[in-house]
Amino acid sequence: MPLVSMGPMLRHARANGYAIAAYNMIDYNSARAIVDAAVAKAAPVIVQVSVKTVRHWGYAPIAGWLRMLADEAPVPVALHLDHCTDLDVLRRCIEAGWTSVMFDGSALPFEKNLEMSLQAYAMTQRAGVGLEAEIGAIGGVEDDKVVDEDASRLADFDECVRFVGEMPDLAVFAPAIGTAHGFYKGEPNIAYDLLERITAALPVPIALHGGTGLSEEQFRRCIGYGCGKVNISTMHKRLFIEGFTRLKAEKPTLEEPLPFIAAQHNAMAEDVAASIDLFGSAGRAAELSDV
Ligand code: 13P
Repeated sequence: MPLVSMGPMLRHARANGYAIAAYNMIDYNSARAIVDAAVAKAAPVIVQVSVKTVRHWGYAPIAGWLRMLADEAPVPVALHLDHCTDLDVLRRCIEAGWTSVMFDGSALPFEKNLEMSLQAYAMTQRAGVGLEAEIGAIGGVEDDKVVDEDASRLADFDECVRFVGEMPDLAVFAPAIGTAHGFYKGEPNIAYDLLERITAALPVPIALHGGTGLSEEQFRRCIGYGCGKVNISTMHKRLFIEGFTRLKAEKPTLEEPLPFIAAQHNAMAEDVAASIDLFGSAGRAAELSDV
């Protein structure tokens, strides 16, 4: 089916107590692994792309790969732009065929973040695509985005209410709740009380950033409180590399490239499939036929 916008499927996920896996693709093979796992699990899925990855491959190739993969898949696939601070990049992604984008103004003072998020909101509303926006500051490293531990900051509840109130059709909201990008160095300290307060006050689906390294229990609790989108990037990158290196270690004389591509695909797809099972989205595609 054609690429879909993530907003309606995330509202379905939040209303039904499950979450949709949002994996950061690296190249065509990694995008294919994400979509293949979703097809195998009859699950909706979000393929998201960092700005650095867009700059590496270009807008049209990524949009073309995803249109082709989605067209052949009998499950809903959304193409989303992850953390972007530049409204011009947002515009170019929308023009190329992305079905949603994230504006990340979390490094800005609240009023400036709100002002620029509203510009992104107006742009996405005009184009009929979804918007994700963030407040607070999620710590850790995600491609170009580096937020030191002392600069990470939980979202302020009153600001969350005001921010989302100004954007009633926000596809997904990303308040910083204590998770971080990259591998966790210690035990993540998730502010469940803040998350619960936000979801009790606001019907918008919540994005859980920093999915790599969270425990099954942490995922279940966050999804139970209304996180409808779970982002995973670092683990996907690791498996992208390990898919190759494990096979090379096993068969050092192998010179044929295609088995390496297949090993890489399978390593990534297995992880995506396991996440889909854990997040409760397996078998949900059929319920989303009209979104
Ligand atoms: P991880 O890299 O920790 O999996 O986080 C992914 C993410 O939140 C992308 O925005």
